[in-house]
Amino acid sequence: MNILVTGATGFIGSHTCVSLLEEGHNVIAFDNFYNSKESVIDKIKLLSGKSFVFYNADMTDSEALEKIFSENDVDCVIHFAGYKAVGESVQIPLSYYENNIYGTLCLLNVMKAHNVKRIIFSSSATVYGNPASLPIKEDFPLTATNPYGRTKLMIEEILRDLWISDNEWSIILLRYFNPVGAHKSGLLCEDPKGIPNNLMPRLLDVAFGKMPHITVFGDDYNTKDGTGVRDYIHVVDLAYGHVKAVDFAMNNKCVEAINLGTGIGYSVFDLINTLNKVNNINVPYKICPRRPGDIDACYADPTKAKELLGWSAVLTLEDMCKDAYEASKKARNDF
Ligand code: UFG
Repeated sequence: MNILVTGATGFIGSHTCVSLLEEGHNVIAFDNFYNSKESVIDKIKLLSGKSFVFYNADMTDSEALEKIFSENDVDCVIHFAGYKAVGESVQIPLSYYENNIYGTLCLLNVMKAHNVKRIIFSSSATVYGNPASLPIKEDFPLTATNPYGRTKLMIEEILRDLWISDNEWSIILLRYFNPVGAHKSGLLCEDPKGIPNNLMPRLLDVAFGKMPHITVFGDDYNTKDGTGVRDYIHVVDLAYGHVKAVDFAMNNKCVEAINLGTGIGYSVFDLINTLNKVNNINVPYKICPRRPGDIDACYADPTKAKELLGWSAVLTLEDMCKDAYEASKKARNDF
């Protein structure tokens, strides 16, 4: 199949391109390198042993999108492109709405004009807000607490309305939990610009001496050791979930939200201890007050992904910590 990938050089996009190419799909990709590097294109080619068409394009540029759809026969779109920093979204909400919402509308309009009616959308567990119970199922109430989360929720709603207007569409809303890890080769990894917000990239900055210690945001949560619990998922597992979602979209006309998580909750201390153990390091930490907006615990019920897509995560927290560490080491040495 011919799969168009938006945001193809980002963390999840790049791993998904490798997975799609390995599975025999043709990839047509674009990115504007807002939060990624051009060198990722060659790394995807190297790892998959395959070539693919790439455009340096911005999704808010309808003319650029029109050119891509005119030059390629697209069967399905996987839509990763978007701004994703929660804190930043509170500071510059209009940029988030313009890029994420307007950009997605541009994409959908061009898809419609070219009669391309299959889309896999990169949503997030953030749409569940603070869940009333755990594990989280797809039919739980949806809410958003910041502009970033609202863009995810709004795009989900736009896509649901689109399906109601035309049942010929195949729309899969993939709700990711906490993606970490990296490709085994160490060539692809999470490479955020500036100071990272998320736990794993911050832990790696501490491990490699860029920060003196990790700040543990609260040890008084209602969890087994008082620190926040999340469903960390290896990015390679997550990438393969997209391949399975493409298969499903090729064979079903529907709008379906599907959790991509392991179903296992690990605490901040679990992550620190595992990272230390598998890499034989000792990351210093300090307990600090809670980060505003953080919730006690969040983990998926992954049953629907297994039933509908035949997908479940197979890689462990040890794999995530080992692969993330090795890739980060390589990225820092190569720089
Ligand atoms: N944490 C720390 N110290 C840090 C960073 C994080 O203790 O320096 C803790 C947080 O309090 C939380 C856990 O580590 O308990 C995970 O925090 P992350 O920032 O890594 O991830 P979040 O769960 O807060 O958010 C992530 C993504 C969001 C997405 C959400 C979906 O960043 O984009 O998962 O559930 F919306």
